[in-house]
Amino acid sequence: MKSETILKKEESYILNNGVQIPAAGFGTYKAADGKSADVIRMAVECGYRCFDTASFYGTETYLAQAVRESGISRDDLFIVSKLWKTEMGYENVKTAFARTLENLKTDYLDLYLIHWPLPDPEYTDWKALDRETWRAMEDLYMEGKIRAIGVSNFLPHHIENILSDCRIKPAVNQIEYHPGYSQEVAVRYCKDQDILVQAWSPIGRRRVLNEPLIQKLSEKYRVSPAQICLKFAVQRGIIPLPKSSAPERMKENLDLFSFEMEQEDIWRLATMPQTGWSGEHPDRERVRI
Ligand SMILES: NC(=O)c1ccc[n+]([C@@H]2O[C@H](COP(=O)([O-])OP(=O)(O)OC[C@H]3O[C@@H](n4cnc5c(N)ncnc54)[C@H](OP(=O)(O)O)[C@@H]3O)[C@@H](O)[C@H]2O)c1
Repeated sequence: MKSETILKKEESYILNNGVQIPAAGFGTYKAADGKSADVIRMAVECGYRCFDTASFYGTETYLAQAVRESGISRDDLFIVSKLWKTEMGYENVKTAFARTLENLKTDYLDLYLIHWPLPDPEYTDWKALDRETWRAMEDLYMEGKIRAIGVSNFLPHHIENILSDCRIKPAVNQIEYHPGYSQEVAVRYCKDQDILVQAWSPIGRRRVLNEPLIQKLSEKYRVSPAQICLKFAVQRGIIPLPKSSAPERMKENLDLFSFEMEQEDIWRLATMPQTGWSGEHPDRERVRI
C-alpha cells in the first residue's frame, strides 16, 4: 500500500544502538473502542508506520489485525509495546513478552519499554525491581527478539538507577510532553545520555489547543493548533505519538515536515505557563484534574 503521507527516510532518527526509528508515530491507547481494528487500520492507510501499543491498552490484538488486513510487510513497520506495572520482575517479563508477541502475531518487537518505573508510588524497593526487570529486557534484546529496549515515564533518578547496573543503555524514554508540560529537566537529561525521547499525549489530549499562544502560532504558520503542538516535539528532536480516530486528523498529524517554526516561537512554547498536565507522575498518586 502506498500513501503520500508516508514519512520519508530522512524523517527518522537513529537510536543509540544504530536502529532507525520513524520521526512520528501513532498512539493506540483507546484506539480500539468498540472492540474494532477500524481506527488502527485507517491509521495504516493514512501512512503511519510506527505504532505505539502496550499490554495495558488492550490494543495489541487490534494492531495485529489491522496490520494483517493492510498487507504491509512486517519489516516496513516499527512496533512499540510496553511492559505493564504488574508484569515487572525477571520471570514476569519473559511471560509478558511472550504474551505480547502472541497478541501482536509477530516474532519480534522493534521497541519494548518498561511502562512505569514504580508499580505504585508507595513501592519502596523499586530500584531492585527496575534493575531485575531491565536485566530480563536486556536478555530478550541479546537473544535478538527485540531491536531496541527502553523505558517510559522514567525521570532522571529512575534512569540513573538503570545506568548504574546495566549492560545495555535504554534507547528511548517515552514521557508526557506537549506545550504546557514539556518536562525540560527530563528531556535535557535524556539528550545528554543519548536517549531518544518519545512524546505521549503530544497534543495534551486537546487540553492545550485553546491556549492563546497556540492559537496565535496556528494563525501565524497557517496550520492547526494540533500541528503546532506536534511540531513543538519534532523541532526539539522528540518523536510525537498522537492518537486520533478520524482520517483527516490522522493525516494532519503526520503533515509535520512542510513547515518550520522560528526558534523564538519554540522558546515561547517551551516557556509558556505550565498547563494541561495529565495528572500522572511516577512518584505520586494520580492527581484528578
Ligand atoms: N507511556 C505512557 O504512559 C502513555 C500514556 C498515555 C498515552 N501514551 C501513548 O501516547 C498516545 C497519544 O496520547 P493520548 O491519546 O493520551 O493523547 P493525544 O494524542 O495528545 O490526544 C488525543 C486526543 O486529541 C484528539 N485529536 C487528535 N488529533 C487532533 C487534531 N489534529 N485536532 C484536534 N484534536 C485532535 C483526539 O480526538 P479524535 O480521536 O477524535 O481525533 C483525542 O481526543 C497514546 O495513544 C498512547 O499510545 C503513552
